[in-house]
Amino acid sequence: MRVVSVVGARPQFIKAASVCRALRERHDEILVHSGQHYDYGMSDVFFEQLGIPAPDYNLAVGSGGHGRQTGEMLGMLEELLLEREPDMVLVYGDTNTTLAAGLAAAKLDIPVAHVEAGLRSFNRTMPEEINRVLVDHVSALLLCPTTAAVENLHAEGVTEGVHLVGDVMLDTARYFAESVDAEPVLARYGVEPDGYHFATVHRAGNSDDPAKLGAIVSAFSRMDRPVVWAIHPRTRKNLASFGLDAVVEAAPSIIAIEPVPYMDTVALLRSASALLTDSGGMQKEAYFFGVPCVTMRDETEWVETVDLGWNTLVGADADKILAAATSRTRPEARPAVYGDGHAAEAIVDVLERYHGGTR
Ligand code: UD1
Repeated sequence: MRVVSVVGARPQFIKAASVCRALRERHDEILVHSGQHYDYGMSDVFFEQLGIPAPDYNLAVGSGGHGRQTGEMLGMLEELLLEREPDMVLVYGDTNTTLAAGLAAAKLDIPVAHVEAGLRSFNRTMPEEINRVLVDHVSALLLCPTTAAVENLHAEGVTEGVHLVGDVMLDTARYFAESVDAEPVLARYGVEPDGYHFATVHRAGNSDDPAKLGAIVSAFSRMDRPVVWAIHPRTRKNLASFGLDAVVEAAPSIIAIEPVPYMDTVALLRSASALLTDSGGMQKEAYFFGVPCVTMRDETEWVETVDLGWNTLVGADADKILAAATSRTRPEARPAVYGDGHAAEAIVDVLERYHGGTR
């Protein structure tokens, strides 16, 4: 079987790390990097650390408006797919790269396999929600991480090709967690295990809005312990243009750092007293490692983390962020709602059965 896999943004590299390894044991994979993320710290370092094979193509699309970015990728991917004639196209998550690759393949009648299908925030103002709904509806194989995702698809009338496979981010976390040495990483930032919060903010709804970003900065600057904040380039630019960078610099509780590679992220997350984030994937990673999560959004796709008491939704409200970080709880139970860490093998199995005609 010849599979074209398309990735482009940081969370997709983390997911592809496990699937590439499993897929290449028996099949030909052509790996395409769209170039949506291009900084060394946002891209190359993930390939190096996670042992992802070098991409066969880099489309170098770069940053830009959603239309231009998605449209340019769509055109380039169509040409590439016509030339390489794969049996299937594998896409991940909900970024503009996912949408471009899903559309390009579906229009050429090449089956699309969507890893992380069925997730919904039910918030159509999120670009990611548009991307994943559209991709799910053109996919032949919907590879769901959770039962909630399966139910979401059923509610939209999508029942064919739906498979519960577990979460590939858990595969990657399990595979690499043991080789992470947290001590030097914590020492670099001068923090102690369980004595700091780890934070990330990049969601457009927060980082493009001066009032919301201001509220988040205000909460971080009033924390009772250090907040190690790995600042996404988009957020860094906005902090500067909203005049919030000076507030960040002056706040004794904020330790502002560059985006960190995967191993450092695991180190910082695993030893943190809480995660403060608006990321999707990191809410789950906090759950994998038993770290309470405070999610600075009004809704989440990862509803299990909230239902099980490990995650609190607080929006971009400074007082709520502070209160949730202070009262963080670690419930007794942390059931295996994201599978057994072998989602990648399950995905390859589903692809093989589909290709072999046994579904
Ligand atoms: C994208 C995804 C989001 C995902 C996130 C992971 C979409 C719509 N959004 O958001 O779902 O959670 O990736 O990080 O696809 N930039 C750089 N260097 C880079 C990449 C980006 O400086 O290597 C800056 C640019 O100013 C760019 C901005 O970040 O305009 C936003 O990048 P973009 O890829 O459009 O979206 P993300 O916010 O990263």
